[in-house]
Amino acid sequence: MVLVGKNLRLRPLEQGDLERSRAWVNDQETARGLLRVLPVSPLSQQAWYEQVSRDPARMVWAVEEQQAHVGNCGLYHIDLIHRRAEAWFLIGDSARRGRGLGQEMAGLILAYAFEGLGLNKVYLHVGAENLNARRTYEAVGFINEGTFFQEYFIAGQFRDVLRMALLADAWRARTQER
Ligand SMILES: CC(C)(COP(=O)(O)OP(=O)(O)OC[C@H]1O[C@@H](n2cnc3c(N)ncnc32)[C@H](O)[C@@H]1OP(=O)(O)O)[C@@H](O)C(=O)NCCC(=O)NCCS
Repeated sequence: MVLVGKNLRLRPLEQGDLERSRAWVNDQETARGLLRVLPVSPLSQQAWYEQVSRDPARMVWAVEEQQAHVGNCGLYHIDLIHRRAEAWFLIGDSARRGRGLGQEMAGLILAYAFEGLGLNKVYLHVGAENLNARRTYEAVGFINEGTFFQEYFIAGQFRDVLRMALLADAWRARTQER
């Protein structure tokens, strides 16, 4: 499914995107934002891509701005019984962060999740210290629904993680306001 917004085009991730994506997640600061600690080898990147490509409960998009691949995002744990999924977002090119692209891509994924898939809830996990990401998610309507204390050990310290969520009704009320 291709999702098109004002500045962004979200299309299915392709084989040719993998090395660029791997470089992003192996960048130390980006990895920290994503709550990742282990490096990703070409083999494990390939295996991940093959697994998600075959898994109906996971969808991954490449994010394009003016035809340039600038990030990735996805829906994981898509549960059509309880009608919820977990979202994740990455603007890999750090020079493009803080310009509203995160909010636009989240908006496209939310519209697809609630309208396209008929989900009732989209949730995500974000490091408590990741204030830019938290602001992005709050700006599109996510609220904190709980804190996992000392959930990850990253760069020598245990880190709290927030679970943020947005329900379909709240999202509809927000989109109708506009
Ligand atoms: C989190 C992320 C997806 C947000 O996307 P983005 O395009 O940077 O976000 P936006 O520009 O839409 O919004 C970011 C907010 O932080 C602010 N901000 C300021 N400087 C920023 C910077 N250098 N980087 C990111 N955000 C910045 C923005 O102004 C905005 O807040 P505002 O609406 O109150 O002004 C992106 O920064 C990213 O991929 N970061 C690295 C990986 C990561 O941490 N992912 C989140 C995992 S949960």
